Amino acid sequence: MELFDTIGTRRSVRFFKPWQEVEEWKIQMILQSARYASCQGNCNSTEAIVIDKRTYPEDKFEQIVECASPFNEIQLRQAPVIIAWLINMDAWYKELIQTFQVLFPARAITAAHGWTFKHLTEQTYPRLMSFPKDKAEDLLRIEAGQAIAHALLAATELGLGTCLLATGRKPTEFPQVLGTPENIVPIWLMAVGYSAEQPGQRPRKRFDRLFHSGEYGKPLKEDKDVRKELEMEGLIQPMDPLPGREEELKHLCRMFGFTEDMPDMPKDKILEMYEEDSPYYGELPPGLEKRGV
Ligand SMILES: Cc1cc2nc3c(=O)[nH]c(=O)nc-3n(C[C@H](O)[C@H](O)[C@H](O)COP(=O)(O)O)c2cc1C
Repeated sequence: MELFDTIGTRRSVRFFKPWQEVEEWKIQMILQSARYASCQGNCNSTEAIVIDKRTYPEDKFEQIVECASPFNEIQLRQAPVIIAWLINMDAWYKELIQTFQVLFPARAITAAHGWTFKHLTEQTYPRLMSFPKDKAEDLLRIEAGQAIAHALLAATELGLGTCLLATGRKPTEFPQVLGTPENIVPIWLMAVGYSAEQPGQRPRKRFDRLFHSGEYGKPLKEDKDVRKELEMEGLIQPMDPLPGREEELKHLCRMFGFTEDMPDMPKDKILEMYEEDSPYYGELPPGLEKRGV
């Protein structure tokens, strides 16, 4: 798969084939991809625990399920592998000096940019170390986002489905359930497995509502030729609901023994999304506005 196609093909998968195991080498490739994400001062603060259901203690897994938001239970139970993404705060407060300075002999940074060992040790490092924990954690969450995005794309490239899963039900208990030490901040779970569903791409806000030209509020116009090119490259794909999507969901729900009801939404709220001031104006598949649910 080419990069644009991989980006366009990634979906948040909410039904997995529980019977199809994930190859260990694919998990290795996913983790390697995360390891090579860019990170501040080269600090590599994003870590992960790989939870393979075949070997993970069942009672511990049940505790994880209890920490996850209820709407994530199906993915957690169906995906054969769960990756718990973590931030290691020691990577900032204890190891940053080492991981940053390795960029000198690696010849990644130069004196021309103002980088000298003296500057790093006497100015940059003390300043970074003075950051309070919540600020450092915020910074490291950005980094984790990069690593996780690499992991999601690598999984897609390998034909796997993924879904990030929040653990908002019992956030304070979650680290204990995972058994992580004080310096580790668990941030997100990721379900990994073979997708049982084939959804289309999910709607996104209009390009010109997101991107600004020169100053905030001056829309950057979407180039239609570029858009067409990206449709050919697979970055922009046919949007959900694809033909037969509802039947697919109903069959999956029936097969797994869940309710076949579709979520409701008032018709006037659907119509609003088709109005000119909506961020989705011109971006939603035609036909939905007449349908209602
Ligand atoms: C940081 C983050 C957390 C997310 N948490 C959840 C979650 O807890 N449960 C879930 O079903 N989807 C979760 N998602 C997936 C989004 O809901 C998803 O991006 C959205 O449905 C659009 O679909 P797509 O990812 O297929 O484009 C998360 C995504 C991100 C980036």
